[in-house]
Amino acid sequence: MSRKTALITGGGDCPGINAFLASVVRRGNSEYGAEFIGVRSAFAGLASDNPEKYLVPLNTESVIGLENRSSTILESSRFNPFTPENEAKKYPEKILNNLKHLGVDGILGTGGNDTILSASRLEERGFPTVMAPKSIDNDVSGTDVMLGFRTAIFFGAQATRSTADSARAHRRISLVEVMGRNAGWLALEIGVASGADLITIPERPVNLTKFCAEVTRIYREHHYANLVVAEGTSIPYNDPVIERARIESAVVRSLLEETPELDSFGNPKLGGVSQILRRVLRIELGLEKIEEVRTTDLGFTLRGLAPVADDIILGIRFGIKAADILLGEKRSGVMIGIHGLEIDEVPYAQALKPKTVNRPDRELQALGVFIS
Ligand code: F6P
Repeated sequence: MSRKTALITGGGDCPGINAFLASVVRRGNSEYGAEFIGVRSAFAGLASDNPEKYLVPLNTESVIGLENRSSTILESSRFNPFTPENEAKKYPEKILNNLKHLGVDGILGTGGNDTILSASRLEERGFPTVMAPKSIDNDVSGTDVMLGFRTAIFFGAQATRSTADSARAHRRISLVEVMGRNAGWLALEIGVASGADLITIPERPVNLTKFCAEVTRIYREHHYANLVVAEGTSIPYNDPVIERARIESAVVRSLLEETPELDSFGNPKLGGVSQILRRVLRIELGLEKIEEVRTTDLGFTLRGLAPVADDIILGIRFGIKAADILLGEKRSGVMIGIHGLEIDEVPYAQALKPKTVNRPDRELQALGVFIS
């Protein structure tokens, strides 16, 4: 059987992944005569009883025109083969057996923290892997920027300006919620690029009394407000402001009572903080109608977008480098990254350090970040 390289795309989908796939295949075919197969649903596909069902043939012909397609043609999953339960069920061994059976001797893929961690665990077991970073959250170290981030900022800022313009016409407060998990990069850059009056990020916990006072000031002065909140915004649940909202609003009560589900890597499923803040603002600002505060959750809208040119170029450059390392130099165990204008590589251990917003308060405040 001829040897092949498997392509996988794990974690949350985002723009730019397909450009990476197309680039790897073109470079690998033409430069190294390599053969590829795509495996749908990343580690879930690789760990299945019938991995053949998950295969997608990929060659230079089949990737024509793929670069600017949205999301990932290989589908994605957050399946973690290395949880204690899945290790006990021998999923890592099953994956290695499946790879052998399929004639695969290396993996090239895209992922965020969690998928890169799984790739590094396979690498530790002697199976060669090289990964490229992707996530609209931009929360992986070892690269200035991850695939998908630039597109998410571009469209996120447009969408936020649009809701703010509508809020101005109706003299309302616009609250736009964006993803980002524990990192505030997405909220920060969308907020700055859309001229937000206030931005909240997970790295700076919010004192609600001060937050409401600041929104009151903005609303009085401008007769509208453009607020951007990160899904991971941290609000103290024993705050008297929250207590009042809990008493007055059934929605707040039920949202606070809901225990977030965890994914297979232990990340809580976030989303909904803007719904709490909407009611808090209505109560604390004494607004007559809830419609004076409108929320827009951009969440998944920013994941399934077609990539902007920056992400297409980044995907292509990441793909060339990944193919050169695994197929040309026969090395593995690294994540591709970009520093300044240079494409380079970092060992997995360095990539896996979380990257949160670490700029000084003074600079953040000047950019519009709310600091209690
Ligand atoms: O891809 C990262 C991310 O977009 C996070 O910001 C968000 O919390 C999470 O994915 C949601 O993922 P899921 O698709 O598992 O609900």
